[in-house]
Amino acid sequence: MQQSDLSLPSECVLRRATSTDMWSIRWLVFSAKLDPTQLRWQQFWVIECDGNLAACGQLRSFSRVQELGSLVVARAWRGRGLATFLTQHLINTATQPLYLECLGQRLVQFYSRFGFVAVSFSDLPPALKPKFGLSELAKKLLRVPVVFMQH
Ligand SMILES: CC(C)(COP(=O)(O)OP(=O)(O)OC[C@H]1O[C@@H](n2cnc3c(N)ncnc32)[C@H](O)[C@@H]1OP(=O)(O)O)[C@@H](O)C(=O)NCCC(=O)NCCS
Repeated sequence: MQQSDLSLPSECVLRRATSTDMWSIRWLVFSAKLDPTQLRWQQFWVIECDGNLAACGQLRSFSRVQELGSLVVARAWRGRGLATFLTQHLINTATQPLYLECLGQRLVQFYSRFGFVAVSFSDLPPALKPKFGLSELAKKLLRVPVVFMQH
């Protein structure tokens, strides 16, 4: 998928987050029940639509790898390509091998469209294992359908 093939609704713009976006980012992440830790605004990109924060996503940096995380689109703006546009942008912006964790087959299919493939926990880079280890535990003990993916 190429960014040039993608577009945003005319009332929306993609930009880097600023410190004033922090509460809106926290709210988006909280309402989507995603990992509420490591939400440094400096790592985020956001999509603003009609002056409101409609989507966010970040690149968390680890030693020699990055994680695409905290991808959320506000309910009112879902299904209009915002996540697709932002995900492709984050992929284009990443400077290190890119990984993510997601829940369920629908998201696995979503990320597969961008070239992500599922990887086992044992094949993850060491820098990610402490963070993704908790999810692996939940997967093993509670059968939470977590999938790790690599770009
Ligand atoms: C997943 C999500 C980011 C998609 O945002 P969006 O702007 O509506 O997505 P787009 O319009 O760019 O693309 C639509 C695709 O998103 C995926 N998608 C949409 N809603 C979804 C949902 N509830 N669960 C999983 N995937 C979903 C599907 O692949 C869909 O394509 P399809 O309709 O052909 O199945 C959005 O539903 C969301 O914020 N969900 C809650 C947070 C979340 O699960 N984030 C992912 C963390 S890994």
